[in-house]
Order: sequence, then structure tokens, then C-alpha cells
Amino acid sequence: MSALGKVVVLGAGNIGGSLAQRLAELDLAREVALVDIIDGLPQGKALDIQESAPILGFSTQVTGATSLDALAGADVVVETAGLARKPGMSRSDLLEKNAAIVRGHADAVRRHAPDAVVVVVTNPVDVMTYYFREVSGLPPARVFGESGTLDTARFRTFVAEALHVAPRDVTSFVLGTHGDTMVPVLSLTSVGGVPISKLLPPDRIAAIVERAKQGGAEIVNLLKTGSAFYAPTASQAELVSAIAQDAHRLLPVAAHLDGEFGEKDVYVGVPVVLGRRGVVRVVEVDLTPTERSAFAASVAAVRADLALLAKTPG
Ligand code: 2OP
Repeated sequence: MSALGKVVVLGAGNIGGSLAQRLAELDLAREVALVDIIDGLPQGKALDIQESAPILGFSTQVTGATSLDALAGADVVVETAGLARKPGMSRSDLLEKNAAIVRGHADAVRRHAPDAVVVVVTNPVDVMTYYFREVSGLPPARVFGESGTLDTARFRTFVAEALHVAPRDVTSFVLGTHGDTMVPVLSLTSVGGVPISKLLPPDRIAAIVERAKQGGAEIVNLLKTGSAFYAPTASQAELVSAIAQDAHRLLPVAAHLDGEFGEKDVYVGVPVVLGRRGVVRVVEVDLTPTERSAFAASVAAVRADLALLAKTPG
């Protein structure tokens, strides 16, 4: 029997379609429902994925719908809907348009799926997660944002590349916001337990940190018509798996802070323990003074966007 009944993926763009495929192939839910307002898009992608089941061997039923009624009975909802960046745009440039989309979806989750765990992906993700939580009225532990696992995966990739080691052996945490002020935490970065400071000189590490911070923009600049989706959906699938298996994985996500890390009433990337009902607890880690001030600057950037959101009509 599948670990989950129903996972609803809101938005059938590049992220939504790729995520539905990954989730179906993981076979962790009875049903994966793809929802989008563009008639034909969610149905077409769902049918295409479904037709791969005989070859790949999964039992998940993949469905497509245009109505938010499809949220009924969802155990997990992944909010991917919204505009993506084009070259030259920051994630914050998407705030107003994406807030309108998130508002409608959060309201529909409140009505149709109040017991779900919600993973928000829409950018600017720390702010959209805050807004989704507020509009849906769900408990903060059941709404969190994806970003840290993605930013950390990018950072781990570049460290692995520099050292010619297996990417999975690189451990790290990228905390703070999913934006230019994100904080790759070097004091928590190691390869097979060996601290990064013993493996690479400071200038190489600094270049990798900078590349990781610009990791999303690097892809946007290459694609020119949209943003990344393969690494993002791998990261989202990791989060949904942790929920499905009640795995209590220790992963970085945009979580609600209520005094942890000295911050309150904000969503930002921190390490959490993740289980079937969402965030089990925020794990406060020791940061160096430099990392602490970088984290504070990152939170300040999120608060600046939250202030902009408060002025957004609606
Ligand atoms: C990224 O970093 C889309 O924000 C996402 O690629």
C-alpha cells in the first residue's frame, strides 16, 4: 500500500510536470493530481506520465484537473503555481503577481484540504510560504517552503566538482532566504565528515559560495525563457518522500520561526526535522559570528519583501 493517499501538485508548468513525474515514479501515493487553470495542460501531462507506468512499474494513478475541487482529500499539497523569473529579474520581482495566485490556492486549501501538509515552491518562496500559511489558516508546522534543499544541492554539487568526489558525500546546510543573501554554512560543510576548510583553500571556497548563491540565476540565464526545474523537483520530491515515510529527515526548509535563531513571525530557511505532519521541530545550530550576521541580513531581506507584500492590493 502507498504511504500517502493523495498528493496534489498545483501548477502544471515545468516544475509541476517534472514533480508529478518524479512522485509517480517514487510510487509513494495512491494518486498524484496535477492541477492548472490552462485546460488540457494538466490532463495532457498527467496522461503522458500515466502511460509510462507499464514500463516503469509504478501503481500511482496520475490525474489532471482544472478545478481546485481536486484538492479534496489531499494529504500533501505542493504549490508550484506562479510566474518564473526571466533573465535580469530577481525572485522578489515576482511578488505581486504570484501573491494573487497563492492567495486563491491557499484559500482553496483552507476550504478543501485543511488537514494537508503544504510545501510551497512559488517565488519569492520565503514570503509566499508566509502568505500561504496566513491565508490558509493552517498550523505553521504544516506549511513550509522548499529552497534550502535546492540551494544546498547546488552548493554540494559545486563542492563535489571541485574535489572530484561523489556529490552525495558532501554534507552542508544553506540557510536563510532563497535569494542573493542566502547563507551557505561553511562550519557545517564537510565531505565524509572532513571539514571543507581542510580540503579547499579559502579563495576556492569563496568562489563556490558565490556560484551557489547565483545558482538559480545561472540556469535562468542559460535557459532564457524560464527557470530551473530538474534540481528543484528532485529537492521537492525529497521533501514529499520525507513526509510520506514519516522519515524525520534533518533538512533545510523555509520554516516558521517563533523565537528560534532569535527571530519571530517570519519564514526563512533553517534546519528542521521533517515528518508525516510536517515540521516536527526547528533545529537550532551554532553559527559562527560571521554566519550569524549573514543570517540576520538574510532575514532582514525577507522582512523587506513581507513589508512589500503587506502593501500589495488584495
Ligand atoms: C531556482 O532557484 C526556481 O528559484 C528557483 O532555480
